[in-house]
Amino acid sequence: MSASAMDLKMDEAAKVLADPTAYADDARLHAALAHLRANNPVAYVDHGPYRPFWAITKHADIMAIERANDLWLSEPRPLLATAEADDLAKAQLEAGFGLRTLIHMDDPHHRKVRAIGADWFRPKAMRDLKVRVDELAKRYVDKMAEIGPECDFVTDIAVNFPLYVILSLLGLPEEDFGRMHMLTQEMFGGDDDEYKRGTTPEEQMAVLTDFFNYFGALTASRREHPTDDLASAIANGRVDGELMSDVDTLSYYVIVASAGHDTTKDAISGGLLALIENPAEMARLKGDLSLMGTAVEEMIRWSTPVKEFMRTAAEDTEIRGVPIAKGESVYLAYVSGNRDEEVFDEPFRFDVGRDPNKHVAFGYGVHFCLGAALARMEMNSLFTELLPRLDSIELAGKPELSATTFVGGLKHLPVRYSLR
Ligand code: HEM
Repeated sequence: MSASAMDLKMDEAAKVLADPTAYADDARLHAALAHLRANNPVAYVDHGPYRPFWAITKHADIMAIERANDLWLSEPRPLLATAEADDLAKAQLEAGFGLRTLIHMDDPHHRKVRAIGADWFRPKAMRDLKVRVDELAKRYVDKMAEIGPECDFVTDIAVNFPLYVILSLLGLPEEDFGRMHMLTQEMFGGDDDEYKRGTTPEEQMAVLTDFFNYFGALTASRREHPTDDLASAIANGRVDGELMSDVDTLSYYVIVASAGHDTTKDAISGGLLALIENPAEMARLKGDLSLMGTAVEEMIRWSTPVKEFMRTAAEDTEIRGVPIAKGESVYLAYVSGNRDEEVFDEPFRFDVGRDPNKHVAFGYGVHFCLGAALARMEMNSLFTELLPRLDSIELAGKPELSATTFVGGLKHLPVRYSLR
């Protein structure tokens, strides 16, 4: 820890970031973040069970750190984890069994591994996939009409649609989708009691073992019989002429299956709630569907499904004059960056026509979300299908947010509606 860190009296507001339950309470979280942006934008946080870190809450600082990817590394700590979970993950990796996904890697290795899947997310691939995504969007809006006049929009609709899309892109059989659904929830909802498999890090690591067993079998089968899907591209992907290691291969599936699912579910359900809570914006969008592009972007800014990523200093440095020592980690508060008063006009206003909208919900720089175009397309398809058919919609109960420091959003959104 640097001398400055030891001298600092910790800002109570900053502790909130190290409390998973705060992320299930929008008002509490945003009050703390607004305070930090105004008074303590590089805030020291020492609050167990996490290792000490620096919370970065200004949009400009988040971008500057992500841009300087030779100074600010993803290794060894790409995201906030308890010290115990952090140590266990490290030990598992050293034992040759663990998770090392794109988000854990730094260049030059990161660039080479990212290139293996990149073609599957480019505009051409997206155009090829659009028919399938539109078809799935229609299927889920039809389902919503069928089960109406009430549903839990998260568990009945928002969860399944993006999972279906990403598993189709991977090329997995439909009968395995239920199992993947449970595993991704257990993995990403790790802090939330409703999703937790067990209380110890070992029990939670068992989720990873299940993932690895499933995808280990898939790799073997795609190497033997390559097919035209993303799973084959990953299984047969090469770095410097060599097939990827087992850890890198299996981790690739994990990042695609998990990052491509819960995040989009959170943006879709957060987007619908924002429209319900802002009826004038809902009417504006229904009246002019050409606003869908900016509306989707605003839904993503508004919900910011990925709360944070971390970077660790490769050498002694400073941010806004605050010294940060080599080896210390910074927490990039995307939720805060996306409400930064210096960047967004009236950041707490939901505006379906917001332009420009330079949010950091997909991160920035070399790790910029690989699936951003896919997420945008999915949301566009779903809301373009849903809104013209929706005569009315209102809350049928209290929306509930998940308690997690990482990927999260609504876990329940009870709605009552009339849908054609
Ligand atoms: C609204 C939905 C989504 C949000 C908010 C989101 C957000 C993010 C963020 C913040 C990052 C880290 C960026 C950084 O460190 O600078 C990321 C990385 C990533 N995302 Fe997404 N994501 C979404 C949907 C998707 C989808 C649909 C996929 C499809 C597979 C996906 C795959 C990935 C992958 C593979 C990475 C790692 C990229 C790298 O480290 O090079 N994401 N995403």
